[in-house]
Amino acid sequence: MASLTIRKLDEELKALLRLRAASHGRSVEDEVRVILREAADQREASASAPQSQPAPRRHAPATASGKERVTLIIGGGIAAYKALELVRLLVKAGADVRCALTRAAKEFVQPLSFQALSGRPVATDLFDASQELAAGHIALSDWAELAVIAPATADLLARARLGLADDVVTATLLAIPPERTLFAPAMNERMWASPAVAETMAALKARGCSTIGPNAGEMAERSHVGLGRLAEAAEIAAACAQKLATLAPRPIPSHLHDGPAQPRAWDLENVPVLVSAGPTREHLDPVRFLSNPSTGRMGFALAEAARDRGARVTLVCGPTELAPPTGVEVVRVESALEMQAAIEPRAAQQRAIVMAAAVSDQRPAERAQQKQKKPDGDEHLRLVRTPDILRGLGERFLNATPRPLLIGFAAETERVEEFARAKLVAKHLDLIVANDVSGAEAGFAALENRVVVLDKDGGRAQFAGPKLAVAHHLWDEIARRL
Ligand code: CTP
Repeated sequence: MASLTIRKLDEELKALLRLRAASHGRSVEDEVRVILREAADQREASASAPQSQPAPRRHAPATASGKERVTLIIGGGIAAYKALELVRLLVKAGADVRCALTRAAKEFVQPLSFQALSGRPVATDLFDASQELAAGHIALSDWAELAVIAPATADLLARARLGLADDVVTATLLAIPPERTLFAPAMNERMWASPAVAETMAALKARGCSTIGPNAGEMAERSHVGLGRLAEAAEIAAACAQKLATLAPRPIPSHLHDGPAQPRAWDLENVPVLVSAGPTREHLDPVRFLSNPSTGRMGFALAEAARDRGARVTLVCGPTELAPPTGVEVVRVESALEMQAAIEPRAAQQRAIVMAAAVSDQRPAERAQQKQKKPDGDEHLRLVRTPDILRGLGERFLNATPRPLLIGFAAETERVEEFARAKLVAKHLDLIVANDVSGAEAGFAALENRVVVLDKDGGRAQFAGPKLAVAHHLWDEIARRL
């Protein structure tokens, strides 16, 4: 074999080689020879393998930036500091890295350090409101192509084995397929040698989890030497690259295209806003009414999103099954007249009024106090118009300064933008949010929405996604105009 020039190799590769060589008790040159021989054997094997079983190939990058997506979970051990170096290496190798720390890990390392190195927000708490915005408790597993757990402490390994999910780390581990996990254990050598840890490791491996290390060496307690040291950052990074190369494509879910759990702007601090939501009910008698299928979901999402950006939110809502968001003033109404009575006296104090309610346009001319008995034969119902609340506001504030921004919704089944623009003009609005409710996948009861936002100056923007994400896009538009 020709002589090897190790000197010309990259420093990190050299460090990796030295470690690998030391753990096998070989010289670095011999280690390289073994690696080359293994590679040659693999090539021969794959050349003679049947055509129907091609060697796994790296799929096309699934992110817009073309980066591989790694969620790094940091357990609470003295080796947690090494995870910082791991982030640096992964990022340097071109990965998009998101970090999650256990409560104990925060005792050893600062989440901010991980944020600085990864350039991404760090997850530390399952119930963080801003993380929940983007389905935070499983967003990190939905998003990742690979989850790396380093250091994986004895406690964290056991929790993963049990399938606990009481914090962001265990919830992430529970939701990600085992074959997309790489555990790098680190613990005292006696703990590592315990039957409990051995059982845990066997169970995780049987599920398809990969592992790297631990290495042999000196423990944190200087007098202890043995197996239990976290594998070196360069080794783990190399194992990640190897693992990613074998994994099948995993498209990024549409609602996570911006990445999971991005904290939103705090751009509505103390801004008073009013949102209307839900349907109205126009009673014929105590047990019969005219209404529509609005669930209030979009209006509730708007109230929640505004609250999370710091706004003082009044939510005027018609009858709905959903629990309204906490931290907002909720005014419950039933009919269009009641909704008008709730909104009008509050309107002048608002900086923005978003009418997401599906207000009935008609009500029965009479409301009977007692349940009505059916007459013989057909009946004719006489309907009268309800007030157009939004139009009333548009006319009232037409030349007023200051005035609240007025935002309407237009649910249409045909000529959506044309009809919406006509309402924008007729009601003197600043913005109108048009949505096509002819399909089942978006609109009234759906969790997702697809909208076109038109402004009075001819501007147009389009958004789609879960209603909460759409709500944030709408507040982005509103906040720019305040
Ligand atoms: N709206 C209102 N008061 C009403 C009816 C509607 O404030 N009596 C508001 C809605 O909350 C929505 C906007 O006006 O923000 C448009 O509502 P929509 O029902 O789409 O339009 P209408 O004006 O009722 O016209 P049509 O039903 O004929 O399409």
